[in-house]
Amino acid sequence: MRSHPSLFALVGLASILPAAIASPFDKAEALAECLSKSSVPADDIGSPDWKLDAAPFNLRLNFTPVGIVVPTTPQHVRDAVACAAKIGVKANAKCGGHSYGSFGLGGEDGHLTIEMDRMNKVVLDNATGIATVEGGARLGHVAAELYDQGKRAFSHGTCPGVGVGGHALHGGYGVSSHTKGLALDWMVGATVVLANSTMVNCSETENADLFWAIRGAGGSMGIVTEFRFKTFLVPETVTFFVAPVQWRTEAQALTGLQAVQDFVLDDMPAELNMRLFIASRFTNLEGLFYGDKAGLQAALAPLIKKTNATLALATQGGWLDQVKHFGNGVNVDQTHPYNYHETFYSSSLYTNSLNETQMKAFVGYWFKVAKTNKRDWYVQIDLHGGNTSAIAKADAESTSYAHRDYLFMYLFYDRVDKGAYPTEGFAAVQNFVSNVTDTMPKSSWGQYINYPDPRMDQQTAQTNYWGQHLPRLQSIKKAVDPDDVFHYPQGVLPAA
Ligand SMILES: Cc1cc2nc3c(=O)[nH]c(=O)nc-3n(C[C@H](O)[C@H](O)[C@H](O)COP(=O)(O)OP(=O)(O)OC[C@H]3O[C@@H](n4cnc5c(N)ncnc54)[C@H](O)[C@@H]3O)c2cc1C
Ligand SMILES: *[C@@H]1O[C@H](CO)[C@@H](O)[C@H](O)[C@H]1NC(C)=O
Ligand SMILES: *[C@@H]1O[C@H](CO)[C@@H](O)[C@H](O)[C@H]1NC(C)=O
Ligand SMILES: *[C@@H]1O[C@H](CO)[C@@H](O)[C@H](O)[C@H]1NC(C)=O
Ligand SMILES: *[C@@H]1O[C@H](CO)[C@@H](O)[C@H](O)[C@H]1NC(C)=O
Ligand SMILES: *[C@@H]1O[C@H](CO)[C@@H](O)[C@H](O)[C@H]1NC(C)=O
Ligand SMILES: *[C@@H]1O[C@H](CO)[C@@H](O)[C@H](O)[C@H]1NC(C)=O
Ligand SMILES: *[C@@H]1O[C@H](CO)[C@@H](O)[C@H](O)[C@H]1NC(C)=O
Repeated sequence: MRSHPSLFALVGLASILPAAIASPFDKAEALAECLSKSSVPADDIGSPDWKLDAAPFNLRLNFTPVGIVVPTTPQHVRDAVACAAKIGVKANAKCGGHSYGSFGLGGEDGHLTIEMDRMNKVVLDNATGIATVEGGARLGHVAAELYDQGKRAFSHGTCPGVGVGGHALHGGYGVSSHTKGLALDWMVGATVVLANSTMVNCSETENADLFWAIRGAGGSMGIVTEFRFKTFLVPETVTFFVAPVQWRTEAQALTGLQAVQDFVLDDMPAELNMRLFIASRFTNLEGLFYGDKAGLQAALAPLIKKTNATLALATQGGWLDQVKHFGNGVNVDQTHPYNYHETFYSSSLYTNSLNETQMKAFVGYWFKVAKTNKRDWYVQIDLHGGNTSAIAKADAESTSYAHRDYLFMYLFYDRVDKGAYPTEGFAAVQNFVSNVTDTMPKSSWGQYINYPDPRMDQQTAQTNYWGQHLPRLQSIKKAVDPDDVFHYPQGVLPAA
């Protein structure tokens, strides 16, 4: 990395791209000049840092930025945004780069990437329990630091490489969420660089509209340089578990799925966090219990009986044991450089309880169609809501996250181990979703921006991700980013 990208390199990039229409790449030289004048650190095109910073988690969506800056201070972020706005290119923060739609790169070619991951400091005030987290930290680093500095944590997802930026600004669901809520429920304040390059703080009492908007749709509103999260003291004892089920027929899967649904409606204790993980080759109930092994066994007993599940793994341990267990075998404390990728297509769904027609549609598609898909696919059904869920207990209007009331959150994920993702995969995933929603009124289901279907048009995407909160979000967007500097193809558009 050098502080001043050479003009030669930027002009070189423009020449390898199609020259037909007026393109943001025509502005590369002016942009580089502006950034260089403000001394914003940037990657040289084609350098090892450029390649690392431009590589998205999802290699299917590999976009080419018009420039990549690597701020180390909030002032660098302000200067980068000022240049993008002045020159007229779109700009986006990239934190962990784990967006399934590569939205950290703008979700299309020609954006200025503001690579935040060098700004990853985590400082816990052990007296107040408030953690100050820079806008480019990854979840594993946050978890490791909060534990080291005071045996504390907040609720968030499990993949150590995911960025706190994308995660906490759009939801943030994990194996603590039924007990402790979403990552965004733990946010108490943030420092944000707006499109006009001013820097503001927001919280419940300061710029409250902005604070509401960034807790659900943050990527469209500004660039968070620093978060403030409240935290909890980690429990002494937790138990993580895997309980495989062997549903061989559609009838058994229907009975099993019905039992899971009845469980989340009636019997699920607040201390239990669980999902049904349906993979191409196995199906598991799995999750985390806040308590000991005996407590888990008692909580699960009625469900185990009805589903014929086998409690194959139930390990009682401390906080970091579960963080490691769910961290997919990679080091927990992830910072720059990070270089792990997959090639896949995804979609998602939120629903309330399924009636018989809808459950049959799900199971029918699973057994008759999905089982013929030989790729490495999975559907994860998180037990998101229900009357003991911390997510559902919070006021639906408290943040711009629009889906608190839904019982289930589904992630559909279809990947290839090598080569390009095949085009027939798109319909395979989309049909799974539409078979389930076929008999549902449009107002009774939604989708999760952190598990996006990147092929939806912007209008559909906005409606499905933000539902009833969209009009208010669009009016806040108009106030803070009227020219849509922080544009991406599924983001919130300014009100007309
Ligand atoms: C392996 C893996 C596991 C996952 N597990 C979970 C899970 O358990 N639960 C869950 O809820 N989600 C999970 N996700 C989804 C994840 O939460 C989202 O992809 C999230 O948006 C990624 O954030 P990021 O910062 O890594 O991504 P990026 O691609 O860097 O950013 C995503 C979006 O957030 C914006 N953004 C990032 N940082 C900032 C910032 N500082 N200020 C303003 N905007 C910012 C970007 O501009 C972009 O629009 C997982 C994803 C992967 C790849
Ligand atoms: C932080 O506070 C907790 C009590 O809340 C205490 O047990 C711990 O020792 C403190 N840690 C540090 C590093 O000061
Ligand atoms: C935002 O709040 C932090 C922490 O309270 C403070 O240090 C900082 O000066 C504030 N910044 C602005 C722009 O108000
Ligand atoms: C559970 O096992 C019994 C006995 O083998 C079987 O009849 C029943 O269909 C199974 N139920 C499920 C949900 O797998
Ligand atoms: C949740 O709802 C079920 C009925 O659906 C009820 O039996 C149970 O007591 C409720 N639990 C709580 C904590 O409200
Ligand atoms: C399930 O709900 C849908 C939508 O309300 C309805 O069309 C369908 O008939 C219902 N099925 C059953 C078995 O009740
Ligand atoms: C359900 O899936 C089948 C098989 O892929 C597909 O042909 C059909 O169009 C889907 N139905 C709906 C309503 O999406
Ligand atoms: C920047 O935008 C914010 C939000 O619209 C506004 O309140 C502020 O006055 C603007 N600052 C300047 C210097 O224009």
